[in-house]
Amino acid sequence: MASHSPHALTFQTFLHGVTPDHLQGFFEGWPHPPRPDTHLKILRGSQARALARLPGGQVVGFVTALSDGVLSAYLPLLEVLPEWRGQGVASRLVELVITALGDLYMIDSACDDELVPFYERLGMVRGNAMIRRKDSRQNGR
Ligand SMILES: CC(C)(COP(=O)(O)OP(=O)(O)OC[C@H]1O[C@@H](n2cnc3c(N)ncnc32)[C@H](O)[C@@H]1OP(=O)(O)O)[C@@H](O)C(=O)NCCC(=O)NCCS
Repeated sequence: MASHSPHALTFQTFLHGVTPDHLQGFFEGWPHPPRPDTHLKILRGSQARALARLPGGQVVGFVTALSDGVLSAYLPLLEVLPEWRGQGVASRLVELVITALGDLYMIDSACDDELVPFYERLGMVRGNAMIRRKDSRQNGR
């Protein structure tokens, strides 16, 4: 990639024109990551999402949101490709998807301790999260 400046990126909440080829390199460190075509299904199945894209269409960051459309929403997935981190890309994605969700009572996310300051800067507060994971379904297929 010629430039890693965030000025090269387009931020969008729609999926028009996004193909699995544009979704390479995500789910870093996952033993059984979803394939790019499964990733696209995840983006399509989410009530809202935000993407950061290069001029060629490649996605370098994304966030998804699930919502009941009335009171509450949850942000299950947020990731920026390593070479694009530390420049505010994720912050902008979260702000965009929260705006896209509309004016809701509750918007929650679960995260590791080290990311608490990141979410606090975005106006969220620390709470407890109860989670369940079924490893055999990690790739979504
Ligand atoms: C977390 C993540 C999305 C942040 O993306 P980003 O574009 O770099 O985020 P921003 O530039 O908006 O904010 C960066 C800030 O987040 C915080 N941060 C991000 N990752 C962190 C980590 N692993 N440990 C501690 N702080 C972290 C830091 O305060 C950082 O500020 P700095 O660059 O001045 O140190 C990115 O690191 C990532 O994709 N990580 C792997 C997937 C993941 O953990 N997703 C979150 C699931 S809850």
